[in-house]
Amino acid sequence: MDLTVNGKVMTVDVEPDMPLLWVLRDELKLTGTKFGCGIAQCGACTVHIDGKPVRSCIMPASAVSGEITTIEGLGNPEQLHAVQYAWIEHQVAQCGYCQSGQIMAATSLLAENPSPSDKDIDTAMSNICRCGTYPRIRTAIHAAAKNLKGT
Ligand code: FES
Ligand code: FES
Repeated sequence: MDLTVNGKVMTVDVEPDMPLLWVLRDELKLTGTKFGCGIAQCGACTVHIDGKPVRSCIMPASAVSGEITTIEGLGNPEQLHAVQYAWIEHQVAQCGYCQSGQIMAATSLLAENPSPSDKDIDTAMSNICRCGTYPRIRTAIHAAAKNLKGT
């Protein structure tokens, strides 16, 4: 089957019910997206499909019809996404395991709501962080929102 990932059409020979997360990590070697729970609870596996956050551990590859973006496609070393800059500036990560999923969720939130309140952030960001980086995640989202608005 063909999947569009980070702007490129990729052909993969997999069972139709293989979860997208497995395709990304094992077939395409895009290992920035992480496996946590496997049951759509933790958000470690969050990617975008047409800009919307999706938990790729439960999404069969054959059910994907839109354009997939992973953490590898969000920015590049020369031009990081504003959310990635804010994450670095505010030293959000602790162990880091959940953070690519957190960043993908945050970029989707800001695309829909450029000025989220703390409550908006808490509602939208259902990803779990076992290190408890939630206060820094919130601070970084506010910083990225300001940077994206150029204020
Ligand atoms: S691994 Fe997909 S939500 Fe936890
Ligand atoms: S930074 Fe360790 S799980 Fe979130």
